[in-house]
Amino acid sequence: MISQTLREARKYEEASEKLISREARPGFHLSVRIGWLNDPNGFSVYGGKYHLFYQYHPYSSQTGPMHWGHAVSEDLLHWEYLPAALAPDEFYDRDGCFSGSAVTLEDGRHLLMYTGVLKERQRDGGSCEVQTQCIAVGDGIDYEKYEQNPVLDEKDLPKGGSRFDFRDPKMWKAQDNTYRCVVGNRHDDGSGQILLYASADGFHWNFRNVLVSNRNRFGTMWECPDFFQLDGKWVLLVSPQDMLPQGFEYHNGNGTLCLIGDYDQETDVFTEEHDQSIDYGIDFYAAQTVEALDGRRIMIGWLQNWDACGIRAPQEPWSGQMSLPRELSVRDGRLYQRPVREIETLRRNKTEYGNLSLSGEVRLQGIQGRRVDMELVIRPGDEENIYQKFAVRFAQDQQYRTSLSFRPYESVLKIDRKFSGSRRAIVHQRRSLVNSRNGKLKLRIILDSFSAEIFVNDGEQVLSMTMYTDLTAQGISFFADGQVVMDIVKYDLVK
Ligand code: FRU
Repeated sequence: MISQTLREARKYEEASEKLISREARPGFHLSVRIGWLNDPNGFSVYGGKYHLFYQYHPYSSQTGPMHWGHAVSEDLLHWEYLPAALAPDEFYDRDGCFSGSAVTLEDGRHLLMYTGVLKERQRDGGSCEVQTQCIAVGDGIDYEKYEQNPVLDEKDLPKGGSRFDFRDPKMWKAQDNTYRCVVGNRHDDGSGQILLYASADGFHWNFRNVLVSNRNRFGTMWECPDFFQLDGKWVLLVSPQDMLPQGFEYHNGNGTLCLIGDYDQETDVFTEEHDQSIDYGIDFYAAQTVEALDGRRIMIGWLQNWDACGIRAPQEPWSGQMSLPRELSVRDGRLYQRPVREIETLRRNKTEYGNLSLSGEVRLQGIQGRRVDMELVIRPGDEENIYQKFAVRFAQDQQYRTSLSFRPYESVLKIDRKFSGSRRAIVHQRRSLVNSRNGKLKLRIILDSFSAEIFVNDGEQVLSMTMYTDLTAQGISFFADGQVVMDIVKYDLVK
């Protein structure tokens, strides 16, 4: 049975999506059907297609009572919207269906697990959100909420775990065909912990262990955990709130964190070996992964950050897009990311320059556009006297530009969208320490209409940001203070 609330949302999105022209959307990044989008949810393969759900408030381009939007794709680039999957229509999720995940049950049905939110009046007159884990089962289009929801509530918390910060279940199927899930929770110490639960059938869940405790090391509460095995290691992805900066590795506010280590499946103990940011740019949060049919581990994130949402004006008809899906690997204790290889099918109009000497500002014939895949390798023109600075500027015209600049003596790569047309006093720049020796650097820059994602040194680091510059700004230029030699291969990306 489809509730009245869900029926209304479905009717509304179908009628209102027509208000947004194709040109006003990203070319190959999934954007919200109408209104507001945040986290990716339920990223899964079902019925031979990728399903991606998302945190969704259709009725305005601001956050509101959360629904789950829904889209499917065969190649992670061409997305087709399906009707909204969940609406806040039960007593236990009246104030929102928050983030969660999906798996396929033994009988072939699609199982969703999400966080139900219910506001509770407090003695001081304020309110707190009680968060529980709930499930819904469906056929890839329509989902029915389980009559025994919630399946995890305060009774299932370890001592000291808060019932107000208990969210974002990520499920997976274990080797023995039973199910596991990790959930973010706040401990008495004020910071996050990741709880591990197990289930034989996907419906009845039991607490197993505290998988990892933040102990106030990386921000406070940890949101949106994901946990998986990759290249012989175990990887935990989380999105911490209230981060303090640590050198160039972590920045203030909402951040991303990847812990790599070992996990003993008998004792459920995770041993951390390495920590790093997932993304070093401005806009990336709440990452979620799927294992593709060919075994690739593919990650997608919300191409936005709570601290910088103001970059979209409230009167815009849509706010929120996903990152480019990225193939993950682990090498020497580090997470590597590369754009999904499917993107190569969108490449058109190859333009190539080899051994090009640059000094000052240069524009190159055939190199412009807002939907672009561009690979650059730079090195000094004079090894004895390395250049001071190299920059690429894009989404450029007389008034606007967004830039990427590299200073070899500091080994710092900086993104800057101050002149992208933003009218808000939010973060517009970010610096990242990159691996570079003697002024050599390899960059792959993927531009879509309203974003730039920069893959450094074959995916050793990624910097992502949105830019909502007028689409008439199509220019790309290069700049060198000193002598730079560059190889460049550029394609238009056409869907
Ligand atoms: C992360 C998050 C999640 C929550 C959802 C609500 O961005 O805060 O923790 O489930 O967004 O929309």
